[in-house]
Amino acid sequence: MVRSVRNLLVVEDDQGLQRQLKWSFEDYKVTVVENREQALEHIRSRRFPVVTLDLGLPPDIDGATEGLRALEEMLAIVPETKIIVVSGNDDRANAIQAVASGAYDFYCKPIEIETLQLIIDRAWHLYNLEADYRKAMKSSTTVSLDEIVAASPVMNTVARTIEKVAPSDVTILIKGESGTGKELIAKAIHRLSPRVDGELVAINCAAIPDTLLESELFGYEKGAFTGATKRKIGRIEYAAGGTLFLDEIGDIPQLLQAKLLRFLQERVVQRLGGHEEVPVDVRVVCATHQNLQEKIAEGTFREDLFYRIGEIAIDLPALRERAGDELLLAKFFFERYREQYKSKCRGLSPEAMQAIERHRWPGNVRELESAVKRAVIMSEGRYVSADDLGLQADHDDGQNEPLLSLREAREMAEKSTIVRVLTVLNDNVSRASEVLGVSRPTLYGLMEKYGLK
Ligand SMILES: Nc1ncnc2c1ncn2[C@@H]1O[C@H](COP(=O)(O)OP(=O)(O)OP(=O)(O)O)[C@@H](O)[C@H]1O
Ligand SMILES: [Mg+2]
Repeated sequence: MVRSVRNLLVVEDDQGLQRQLKWSFEDYKVTVVENREQALEHIRSRRFPVVTLDLGLPPDIDGATEGLRALEEMLAIVPETKIIVVSGNDDRANAIQAVASGAYDFYCKPIEIETLQLIIDRAWHLYNLEADYRKAMKSSTTVSLDEIVAASPVMNTVARTIEKVAPSDVTILIKGESGTGKELIAKAIHRLSPRVDGELVAINCAAIPDTLLESELFGYEKGAFTGATKRKIGRIEYAAGGTLFLDEIGDIPQLLQAKLLRFLQERVVQRLGGHEEVPVDVRVVCATHQNLQEKIAEGTFREDLFYRIGEIAIDLPALRERAGDELLLAKFFFERYREQYKSKCRGLSPEAMQAIERHRWPGNVRELESAVKRAVIMSEGRYVSADDLGLQADHDDGQNEPLLSLREAREMAEKSTIVRVLTVLNDNVSRASEVLGVSRPTLYGLMEKYGLK
């Protein structure tokens, strides 16, 4: 990658030092400013990957209030910039505080150019590494369908399918556990279809009582039943020219299944209490978290309807099956909520990332999203911790582990201890038996028992 000039901003009020620093760094284009306001002005107008910041700026040249304030304000504008604070030798405490509030590193006067140069070089390289990383993340986050954050091969396949089927009018069935993004996919299909200027009308078949669902879908004529004081257009008709999204289709009562099937075959609706058959031009997308085949087998879902709605089926994998997407999504939601809640938090801690990868996410993307949102709101540190996410830091939360009897638990512990000791001691059985406090024959017996030979 071609790098342009290496811009370095030096914030220093001592004129002697200013001169010295200005000409010391051959590889950098150095800009020198002498107070907080000027520093902010420059930070806003140009990109400085690295800044050195004297903490003792006027008017508080013997303290650090002005310098610390400059640090905070600069980071608020350009959090990715590496700021190296420079302090007097008797002022390490403030320098350390600066690092705690986000400075990249600190350096105590008197200045030795070679050492400072090393720190600056390292900061510059790190800045560029991170910039490349951010760029790579950006280009891989969208599988050409903005809003759907994914990079895993399985989700790439899903994205390709969407792109292929969206332009046509085929009826689509989206299957997936709850929180996997079924609604998001339905919206994407609508957006990528020629019907994008029409409405996307969604109806959740599980949320509407059976008795009302029919009139919601098909509408009614005045006087169709007590309380029907005027004609009402149903959702299907509303969706004319657009897309009808039948969410939780598995929950549609059996009586209505026949009626829906008829609509899908003939593309006309008859309002309740009406005689007229109204043709409706609509594209239908359905979703369910249920196993419809099972429902067919137990006789609660019509097979003919199943084939009609599933002309094309899209299987959304659970989040735990999308290798790599957990972190990508976590970072995506982190950025979203950090902005929304104006959080000062700067990122996810390594242990938080580990915990995210280890968790099984039974509630899928929805669960991840709310965990990150909660963490952004709750976090008091600079980085979101596993605890903020409601996850355990260094071991599984146990919820997903099988329930064991004490004997099984003891055996598991015994086996893993033996494996560990043998590994550390390079399979030296005599030493291992000493460490484990058992005789060699006993250890051989245990290795036999656990299949470790
Ligand atoms: N790949 C993704 N990229 C970005 N956001 C996503 C992704 N998948 C899901 N989401 C977000 O996660 C949340 C849940 O998604 P959605 O409502 O589409 O899931 P669902 O499968 O319909 O869930 P449910 O079965 O509970 O109705 C939404 O806020 C959605 O925007
Ligand atoms: Mg949904």
